[in-house]
Amino acid sequence: MSSQTPTENSSLLPNPSPHHDEESGHGQSKATQFESNPRTRGIIWGTLTVVFVAGLFLLLGFQHLLEDKLYPLFGGLPKDPLLAALAIMDKAPVIVGAVLSYLPILTRHLFANNASAIDLKSRMPAHVDIPRLREGKVGGFFWSVYMGCPSEEEEGQNYLSATWSVRDTLEQIDVARALIEKYPETFQFATGTDDIKSAIKNGKIASLLGVEGGHQLGNSLAVLRQYHALGVRYVTLTHTCHNVFADSCGFLPGIIPRHGGLSSLGRTLIDEMNRLGVLVDLSHTSDATAAQALAHSKAPVIWSHSSARAIHNVPRNVPDDILRLIGAGEGQKDAIVMVNFAPFFVAPPDKADLESVANHVDHIAKIAGRKHVGLGSDYDGIGSVPVGLEDVSKYPALIAELYKRGWNKYELAGLTGGNLLRVFEGAEKVSRELQRAGQQPSYDLYKERKDIPRSEL
Ligand SMILES: *[C@@H]1O[C@H](CO)[C@@H](O)[C@H](O)[C@H]1NC(C)=O
Repeated sequence: MSSQTPTENSSLLPNPSPHHDEESGHGQSKATQFESNPRTRGIIWGTLTVVFVAGLFLLLGFQHLLEDKLYPLFGGLPKDPLLAALAIMDKAPVIVGAVLSYLPILTRHLFANNASAIDLKSRMPAHVDIPRLREGKVGGFFWSVYMGCPSEEEEGQNYLSATWSVRDTLEQIDVARALIEKYPETFQFATGTDDIKSAIKNGKIASLLGVEGGHQLGNSLAVLRQYHALGVRYVTLTHTCHNVFADSCGFLPGIIPRHGGLSSLGRTLIDEMNRLGVLVDLSHTSDATAAQALAHSKAPVIWSHSSARAIHNVPRNVPDDILRLIGAGEGQKDAIVMVNFAPFFVAPPDKADLESVANHVDHIAKIAGRKHVGLGSDYDGIGSVPVGLEDVSKYPALIAELYKRGWNKYELAGLTGGNLLRVFEGAEKVSRELQRAGQQPSYDLYKERKDIPRSEL
């Protein structure tokens, strides 16, 4: 008994406060009082047992909930896949490929390019607006400054007729930049990986520009350089039409190639993009273009919005033999395929849903590796959407599905942004190295052009 009575020398128990001494009266401790009264002791033990048993029941019943509340303390993840997805995405927000393709084109068609008339804080007609970007945990995206292909008549034989593609692209860049500037509390213009990281750190959505088709370059490397100066950081080598640089895969079912992949000017275009640090985007290109570009580019490349042909067999999706060229091994190159959600590229009619999109992600990961997949979506660029992925707010549901399928938090953080950052950093490094080595801009002109006099090249 005396051994259990606190003494002034005990190091395991707090020193009794003077107040405590007063209450317990006459120097006798409470513990001694309790133990000396069997009735009080019974009541206390009884109460404790009831509380303990009730607590146990509560814990078992709400274990799920409790874990979901306590996980941050232990560094784990909630059991609930959606909560897990949200927790991961808070740390690694989604950076997407060609999402918002068409906020600029939407502004063109619905608001005559009047950025003042657009209210991104209210619900926009298609898939993207500020509230839904936030709900979807979007940390950054490429605003695709897209203009469709001119018709064959418009561009004429050998692409020699003047089209409005360059003017219209400049208008798209103007609209995109105006919308980015209009919401400085939401968007932060970004032209590189440092900008993306700083935007995310500031709680902003990093906003990059991408040109979605070589036809928008007006056959000119000088135009590429000027787009770069305006902040453009990817160019898709083709859209649905061939151009002077490369063959497209067309739409559905596909088109007959013209160059057999890249033209010689197309290879020069890639050299110039590598030098400038503009990402080479292989979505929309033919298989030959993609394979040749992957081999030719010194920098890692992207597919801004493309899915897997083995899952759904259309020319617009990437075949396994090209996926096998991606990686760090012999004969491989670093790249990221950011999955397209367009229902007609995802599954047979009326079959596209969240699970089928996840199947594309899983397949690309199986062949190329989980470090080489990202999210491209094509929101706002598509008329219909997969069930369960109706708009940008649904990204967490897709991450939750992949979490259920066994992707860990590091792999998911790569999928939602880390992989793209790595590829982009790789391209920035190549650009710095080429410029340091003194690689000069290319002044090659499209060989069919006769408007500029020149000596034989
Ligand atoms: C652009 O939109 C703003 C806001 O709705 C309007 O005040 C302005 O008149 C519009 N400009 C044109 C040229 O339509």
